Amino acid sequence: MAHPDRFYLAAVMGWPVMHSRSPMLHNHWFAEHGLAGAYVPLAIEPGALGPALRGLHALKFSGCNLTIPHKQEALTIVDETDETARRIGAISCVVVRPNGSLFGSNNDAYGFIENVLEFAPDFRADAGPVAVIGGGGGARAVVWALAQRGAKEIRLVNRTFARAQRIEAEFGAPVRAVPWEQRAEALDGVVMLANATSQGMVGLPALELPLDRLPASALVTDIIYTPLETPLLAAARARGNRTLNGLGMLLHQGRPAWKAWFGVEPKVTPELRRKIEATIAP
Ligand SMILES: NC(=O)c1ccc[n+]([C@@H]2O[C@H](COP(=O)([O-])OP(=O)(O)OC[C@H]3O[C@@H](n4cnc5c(N)ncnc54)[C@H](OP(=O)(O)O)[C@@H]3O)[C@@H](O)[C@H]2O)c1
Repeated sequence: MAHPDRFYLAAVMGWPVMHSRSPMLHNHWFAEHGLAGAYVPLAIEPGALGPALRGLHALKFSGCNLTIPHKQEALTIVDETDETARRIGAISCVVVRPNGSLFGSNNDAYGFIENVLEFAPDFRADAGPVAVIGGGGGARAVVWALAQRGAKEIRLVNRTFARAQRIEAEFGAPVRAVPWEQRAEALDGVVMLANATSQGMVGLPALELPLDRLPASALVTDIIYTPLETPLLAAARARGNRTLNGLGMLLHQGRPAWKAWFGVEPKVTPELRRKIEATIAP
């Protein structure tokens, strides 16, 4: 576009931030939709989030995504949030309104379930118990997504039991906190196992989880996407389970963000997926 009326801007704020695949994702959509604009990584140090977010309006940014370590703190900065962000306890997307006020939402739960349904359209969260491993922001998004999809029993296993208990207390049924020592038994009869810990990420040890009791029919998903196949997914695939990594969660959470910022709902295409996969170690 030679003389656009407006140059569209959005960003991801994090510390560190240069590892983020979000700029590649969103800049792909700018090109695909023929919109003049850019999505940039902003390295915002802890403690600088307030001024950074408040500066977006003057700079004519439509909004931004947030990543580690800013997702929780943003709740205390923005002017309004939606229920999903409040329940998850974290903001993944900020929209700058025309009057400069900031609206915070969380699209991680949406991204999680859209990824699952793209891969396994037949998946039903209410078909049987599901096991979620983790107790951080990612786990809260996964649990919220599964609860919204009608899961009747979510066995939530976290190394720090108190964190899982807190989620159980906040979300109520169907969440049931399970002690770490009982994680192998927690897989009995589940239709899905979801890893939402950081274990298995590049540079970190594998998640310690025996799969002996996992039904062969269970879908195993990891919200990690670096590497594309974590040791957990490799072990599950080797015993015949269907497996799914977290890349699609990242891709799909970008769609409602774009719609909110630019009024266009972009698509997650095989071409886009391949382009981003090509930048990640298998
Ligand atoms: N695909 C996506 O779009 C997407 C979105 C969000 C997050 N993620 C990924 O999900 C992962 C978790 O993110 P988060 O924001 O939830 O992180 P977080 O809030 O820091 O939580 C980390 C989780 O990992 C657990 N953990 C850490 N070390 C452990 C160990 N040695 N053994 C067992 N459990 C351990 C923690 O347990 P304790 O409570 O005991 O410390 C906690 O449950 C990260 O890899 C992140 O990149 C992906």
